[in-house]
Amino acid sequence: MELDEVLRRRRMVRHFSDEAVSAEDLDALVAAALRAPSAGFTQGFRLLVLTDPADRERLWEATDWSPPDPQRDRMAAEMRAAPAVIVPLCSEAAYRERYAEPDKAWIPDEDIWAVPYWYVDAGFAAMLVLLKAVDLGLGAVFIGQTPRFVPRFREAFGVPDAFEPIGLVLVGHRHPDVGPAYRSERRRPVEEMVHRGRWGGR
Ligand SMILES: Cc1cc2nc3c(=O)[nH]c(=O)nc-3n(C[C@H](O)[C@H](O)[C@H](O)COP(=O)(O)O)c2cc1C
Repeated sequence: MELDEVLRRRRMVRHFSDEAVSAEDLDALVAAALRAPSAGFTQGFRLLVLTDPADRERLWEATDWSPPDPQRDRMAAEMRAAPAVIVPLCSEAAYRERYAEPDKAWIPDEDIWAVPYWYVDAGFAAMLVLLKAVDLGLGAVFIGQTPRFVPRFREAFGVPDAFEPIGLVLVGHRHPDVGPAYRSERRRPVEEMVHRGRWGGR
């Protein structure tokens, strides 16, 4: 698929059919993620791939949907049907180690990052999974999690404390009976989003 078409088609998909994601497609999704750029080429992200129903059940048990909300609980129940989950994780320590290496020695002190690169890089990797899913004719959604999820998730899957899940990428085949994802037509105008030359510049 052409890149323009992938970009045009990319929408979060929250309703999935029963069809599994093939091993080949899963390999292609993770291969795409591994092409992500990373600050200092730290490659400080990891991916936990879950397809086994028992593993996915453990994942959903670790999630935190409190307090109950009918609309959100319905969405969560629908998203639970996703046959594959890719969890992007990141490690702050990996970046601190990388930026202490000799080729980064010119950097004056440890206060060097305007924003935490570990989240940026894991986000790039997640984005590539979302785009590759479109390319493969699959549907995917990135969903966030609450802080309470993090220790429960680590415990359930033996994840070291140094790694933080940035969210979940749910992947599957789009349910045929469901229309476009909600909200995606309400994009803000270009003039608000894009500034040319200076802030406020048209
Ligand atoms: C960091 C992040 C967290 C998100 N968390 C959720 C979430 O918890 N649940 C959900 O349904 N969608 C979530 N989304 C998806 C957004 O709602 C979605 O990208 C937005 O509504 C625009 O729609 P589109 O991606 O289909 O164009 C998240 C997206 C991002 C980037």
